[in-house]
Amino acid sequence: MNDNNAWRFVKKRTAADGAVYVSADGTRYRRTGGADLQAEAAFQRQVADLDYPVPHVLEEGFTDDGHYYVVEESLGDQTLHDRAVASLNGSRALPDDVTDTAAQVAARLLRAQAAHLAQPTPTPSALRQWLDRAGFTQNVFQENPDLDNTRTRAALEHALDRLATVPLVYGHLDYGLPNVLPAGVIDWQHHGLVPFGYDVLPALEVIAFKGGSKGYTASPGQRRRYLAALDDAARNTTGQPVSQHLGVYLLVKSLFFLALMRPTDPARTDKHLKWQYRRHLFMKGLEQYERTGMVDTALFPGLEEFAAGYRAGDHP
Ligand SMILES: Nc1ncnc2c1ncn2[C@@H]1O[C@H](COP(=O)(O)OP(=O)(O)O)[C@@H](O)[C@H]1O
Ligand SMILES: [Mg+2]
Repeated sequence: MNDNNAWRFVKKRTAADGAVYVSADGTRYRRTGGADLQAEAAFQRQVADLDYPVPHVLEEGFTDDGHYYVVEESLGDQTLHDRAVASLNGSRALPDDVTDTAAQVAARLLRAQAAHLAQPTPTPSALRQWLDRAGFTQNVFQENPDLDNTRTRAALEHALDRLATVPLVYGHLDYGLPNVLPAGVIDWQHHGLVPFGYDVLPALEVIAFKGGSKGYTASPGQRRRYLAALDDAARNTTGQPVSQHLGVYLLVKSLFFLALMRPTDPARTDKHLKWQYRRHLFMKGLEQYERTGMVDTALFPGLEEFAAGYRAGDHP
């Protein structure tokens, strides 16, 4: 490749060492990193062959100073998150074209996953491994020992039982609008086995866990339409809908969003509040799941609303 083009720094990688760069003409992205990035590139090559909507890996190698890098094609200049933020004009409503595009990309990924099941019937240990990875259960229980109780454990066992016959597929594990473009899905650093539907079903629901900081929110109608599109895609490939698993997946997401939240410095009252907020969302999710088997993220308070109640002493 001609390496005399300049790479523009984009950002440090969120959950790993290394950084992301874009080529001067915007057609390629370059990531630097270590063994994790190498595994990510290998995974991306593998699923590209399975018709997953992922960027093609164009080049990989080591820099003169021994750092691993990988170059992939650009899938476009705006993620769906970027597009949503750019189109906000005073309202918090997501534009329909964003949620409809999200549904199309999600359906493509779901169809590719259905066509290449990793475990048609999951082994109990692989399913449990997914739960522990996706929900960061070890960290959550370590930081919140009071939540490591028979009640939580019973709900999680129930959730695993419900997934006993759901196939495991090669998944993304950090799926959401910031990693989705109309041409496909980027940023596969967390790749691993997931139950069918885990990646794509919660994509519009997880916005609520941010407490309003994303600036936008999906309406109940948009979320219904999104799930209906995924049910169609699933029926066409597996003969069965998939949205019945959303409750289980949101229970796991409520653990995920509680992970790594406990501040080490008690003086950081802002961080303390966010931690308490996520604890609140977990408890709300758990209660709903126990009662109905579902979690309705529309019933979650925003962070501001929660904070007002918290400051007023509306807590134990
Ligand atoms: N192949 C790609 N096509 C288009 N945009 C990309 C691509 N790779 C990265 N980007 C852009 O770079 C940003 C950071 O890359 P990403 O791998 O998602 O990093 P992080 O792990 O920090 O989330 C993305 O949000 C997106 O805007
Ligand atoms: Mg990303």
